[in-house]
Amino acid sequence: MHKDLKHLWLPYTQMKNIGSPLKAVNTKGCDIFLKDGKVLLDSISSWWTSCLGYNNSYLIKAVTKQLNAMPHVMFGGIIHDQAVNLSKKITSLIKNDLEKVFFVDSGSVSVEVALKMAVQFWINQGKKEKNKFVHFKNGYHGDTSGAMSVCDPSEGMHFIFGKYLNKNLFCELPTTLLLKKKLENTIKKNKDKIAGIIVEPLVQCAGGMKIYPPKILNIIYELKKKYNILLILDEIATGFGRTGTMFAFHQSKAKPDIVCIGKALTGGMVSLSATVTTKKIFNAFLGSRKNIEFMHGPTYMANPLACSAANATINYLEKNKLLIKVKNIEKYFNLNLRKFNKYSFVNKTRYLGAIGVIELNTLDNKNLIWLRNEFIKRGVWVRPLRNVVYFMPPYIIKKHQLEKIFKTTLDIFELWQKQIVKKII
Ligand SMILES: Cc1ncc(COP(=O)(O)O)c(C=O)c1O
Repeated sequence: MHKDLKHLWLPYTQMKNIGSPLKAVNTKGCDIFLKDGKVLLDSISSWWTSCLGYNNSYLIKAVTKQLNAMPHVMFGGIIHDQAVNLSKKITSLIKNDLEKVFFVDSGSVSVEVALKMAVQFWINQGKKEKNKFVHFKNGYHGDTSGAMSVCDPSEGMHFIFGKYLNKNLFCELPTTLLLKKKLENTIKKNKDKIAGIIVEPLVQCAGGMKIYPPKILNIIYELKKKYNILLILDEIATGFGRTGTMFAFHQSKAKPDIVCIGKALTGGMVSLSATVTTKKIFNAFLGSRKNIEFMHGPTYMANPLACSAANATINYLEKNKLLIKVKNIEKYFNLNLRKFNKYSFVNKTRYLGAIGVIELNTLDNKNLIWLRNEFIKRGVWVRPLRNVVYFMPPYIIKKHQLEKIFKTTLDIFELWQKQIVKKII
């Protein structure tokens, strides 16, 4: 094993025979600079976080100022202006009566908080049986236990933990009349046990970048209203402009009770997430009865450095009208993704906002490693998942950089096609 890996364990990685790791020493704009002198153009914004690109000077200035003033103070009993301002900004952007913000430190934890909040909302009204969640095929909500229990249990990456996890109500998205009926029947039959429905709005990201139309979200919303259950939207990957609107659910008629946000919230500077909810939910935790307050509180909750990065990110997104840049990326995807359809191993392409997807027929481990290495050789960073190669670039990416990503992908696919013909791989 490489000497630098002697004490390290990487995420989602078979550590046996891992070879030499890529070592980053610097970042700037859309580029990651490696120790060996190579430069990688990041087509996936460091797991969808660095929407403003790396080392944005406006963000660095804001965080440095906060670093000198107060890097951290506990949130239990003490608040600060960075959190106050951020809560105002988030609620004014998200709208839809979502007026209360609970800060946490990662996306998975914001999902845990959303689930706990929903369950306790019902407990506080004497409905102790309502503790199950409707969740969907291809859904992904994080790696902690509660979050894993609402991921896709069969196709998802957590299927081996099946026996360890809480069992929830697994359904398919209501994309047909029959599936809508099935979903409604499940909800109807179990309504006294259901706390809420959890879904990623418009794009199921880690589950294979599956894009679905707003009307599906509208159907889910109608069912939520009809059976009086809560709707939790997981906007961790889609929030802050990624799909072309500030939040993906803004393209639908859905009015969620709870929304999880994270990732791009801090422009990729430092980890911060939040669970945002309505006054109605918040009010159910008020009163003098014992044990009705919300029992959750991460040590680094509302860390001032992270909040300063998030405040600066939102200011920058708005001041520089970055949603227009997302629309331009979408236009580029609209015009150019179809170029990949000619390859025999490509099933289809799709896009929404600054998310471009090439779905392959299959992608086995051998081809995945080959693909990744070919991209690295040519100076582009991708991280295919399941059977998709996808692009979620920083919003500030330039046209020539998008062209480089597409030209590189075409070159590699051309080589792949030739090798299939020659039956080399
Ligand atoms: C939709 C969604 N929810 C939750 C998470 C988990 O977030 P984190 O990795 O910050 O825990 C992710 C991460 O990819 C995600 O895409």
